[in-house]
Amino acid sequence: MKLESVTLKNFRAFRKETRVSIGELTTIIGKNDVGKSSILEALEVFFNNEIVKLESGDKNVHSTETHIEVTCEFSDLPDELVLDTQAETTLSDEYLLAMNGNLCVKKRWQCTGGKPKEEIFVCANHPSEPKYDDLLTLTQAKLRERMTELNVASEGVNRNSNPSMRKAIWENCPDLKLRKTEVAVAKEDGKRIWEKLASHLPLFALFQSDRPSRDSDAEVQDPMKLGIRPAKLSITHNPVGLLGGEMIYPPAGRCVKIDGRSGIGQ
Ligand SMILES: Nc1ncnc2c1ncn2[C@@H]1O[C@H](COP(=O)(O)OP(=O)(O)OP(=O)(O)O)[C@@H](O)[C@H]1O
Ligand SMILES: [Mg+2]
Repeated sequence: MKLESVTLKNFRAFRKETRVSIGELTTIIGKNDVGKSSILEALEVFFNNEIVKLESGDKNVHSTETHIEVTCEFSDLPDELVLDTQAETTLSDEYLLAMNGNLCVKKRWQCTGGKPKEEIFVCANHPSEPKYDDLLTLTQAKLRERMTELNVASEGVNRNSNPSMRKAIWENCPDLKLRKTEVAVAKEDGKRIWEKLASHLPLFALFQSDRPSRDSDAEVQDPMKLGIRPAKLSITHNPVGLLGGEMIYPPAGRCVKIDGRSGIGQ
């Protein structure tokens, strides 16, 4: 998967929702304290939450809202997702794609208590018609019940396969009322799909060069570990987000200029 953009909301200086496009080579330019490092650190929080960990204090001090959001948009998506032997599916079949065909994953942290509480959503053009809008949260037994409740014909439907039942139910509806929706991926197949997607995410490594560092520092060690991880796993990843000295080298030659604290222009 390839990172196309990151959008910040209520993260440090970025109170208003602010989208940053990511190219093959992205350079972020702006005056001091405008929020350049914050963009890179938001990506670290989204992908790893290790070198920089999200804290309640990261919420914009001027915002009356209680949450922080970081949303990453991806292209080059996996053709299919294998949930188990009976359950192969696609993001398109599950109505988990955005209007432009990309995948948008939003992480939201509630900052009301001590430790921020993370929730994950896929922002997609998803059914909003009642009884057709919650299928990714249902167990297999509940999907069978829903088929009965909605009089969905069971010929040709594998009742041991959740994707097969969801397809049949959705095809049964004359108007799914597709709407831009935040689909929670915290339980049942939503959760399984997110777990599968997580293994396809680009690798991201943050290297902070604007302070003294030692070879033992995590930002020195972690990029090296990231470098050998694909070989160890024998899995081909798309190394989109390797950062060096506060420069990001993912997908072509785009320069992002920060105009002010409330927004970014290009
Ligand atoms: N919780 C917060 N709420 C509002 N603003 C914040 C918050 N935390 C940090 N900031 C603001 O973020 C700014 C610093 O952001 P950042 O370090 O990303 O800037 P920078 O462009 O990388 O700066 P430099 O050029 O010095 O490296 C400061 O103006 C600081 O006041
Ligand atoms: Mg900085």
